[in-house]
Amino acid sequence: MSKKRILLIIGGGIAAYKSLELIRLLRRSGLEVRTVLTPAGAQFVTPLSLSALSENPVHTDLFSLTDEAEMGHIQLSRSADLVVVAPATADLMARAANGLANDLASTVLLATDKPVLMAPAMNVRMWEHAATRRNLATLKADGVRMVGPDEGDMACGEFGPGRMAEPVAIHHAILDLLSDAPGPLSGKHALVTAGPTAEPIDPVRYLTNRSSGKQGFAIAAALSRLGAKVTLVSGPVALPTPAGVRRVDVETAAEMLAACQAALPADMAVCVAAVADWRPAEISDQKTKKVPGAGPPVLTLTENPDILATLSRGANRPTLVVGFAAETDHVETYAQGKLARKGCDWIVANDVSIEGTMGGDENAVSIVTAAGIERWERLAKSEVADQLAARMAESLK
Ligand code: CTP
Repeated sequence: MSKKRILLIIGGGIAAYKSLELIRLLRRSGLEVRTVLTPAGAQFVTPLSLSALSENPVHTDLFSLTDEAEMGHIQLSRSADLVVVAPATADLMARAANGLANDLASTVLLATDKPVLMAPAMNVRMWEHAATRRNLATLKADGVRMVGPDEGDMACGEFGPGRMAEPVAIHHAILDLLSDAPGPLSGKHALVTAGPTAEPIDPVRYLTNRSSGKQGFAIAAALSRLGAKVTLVSGPVALPTPAGVRRVDVETAAEMLAACQAALPADMAVCVAAVADWRPAEISDQKTKKVPGAGPPVLTLTENPDILATLSRGANRPTLVVGFAAETDHVETYAQGKLARKGCDWIVANDVSIEGTMGGDENAVSIVTAAGIERWERLAKSEVADQLAARMAESLK
């Protein structure tokens, strides 16, 4: 990838500071980075930081005599292998969707003949506004790829989708778009389950497990980056679908199992979902009401199918089946028990008593196989995913 070039356009949003980290990640992958800084972007980051990190001059002005003498805006737009807009503000997206060319950034976007990736970043109301929805649809129809936005607390104090994707996610999306060499998992099909399941009690209540889905989504993305065709069967989570991954949304364990079986055959399966072990034996059609004096209702539960065990023991068994075990104590002993009980090949044992792992961005895991236990240091969930995917590719060689 050493010869590939990225042209990074930095729009005017608070998320512009994250573009500094993005440049660092891109440079570490051996990519060359040139930057275009909009006047609004320059309110948030300085040309000096950008040129220091990218080790290239920063382009800011459509009518710059020096820039035009050294590299005209048309050449600038085409000298890159990929044009990335991060943050892509509502204004930049609107101008790009409508083909305006009233500053250097929009002119480059109109003049380029290269793929464009945008990382939208804006207030949640702006993101949800009908005008932005229209612009987004137009840009997608024009072939512009999107990464994010994420959902979360915003700089403006509101909550919702609109936060720019993290630099690591943008970096991954860039590598995906640049990779033309077939990966070690090309031609292989991977099935991944992720997130919780929700088991209805009545139309308004359900039983569920705590699970953000982050680890499962990261694994689906990592397997896809290695060239696998990935089917991600997900319970209810608030996460964007990783680039290139086929996603099937389900609610209950029974639906998750059916979706997994429908996706077979697969060369590998990774069951990361926190499947509810039980579901209410009966689902009420109507909301259960409080009856004065009657006390709390009794909920009778029935056992859910074990998806991991069913896939491991099924006629169409994937060659490599990996399960997860989230434990709070006796982590490795319980994981060894699960390996035998469920009939899978590996268990990724996960100590959720460690602060910051449950729902957070890091994980401390051990890989338990028939051959023994391998303890990994505490890593970002995306790194756990990359290392696990690499191990899986190695074992399926
Ligand atoms: N799993 C599954 N279907 C279920 C329950 C669990 O596919 N109905 C999978 C999970 O995706 C995970 C592994 O089994 O890969 C272990 O899940 P866990 O909930 O830790 O195991 P349990 O069977 O619930 O065991 P225990 O209650 O003893 O912890």
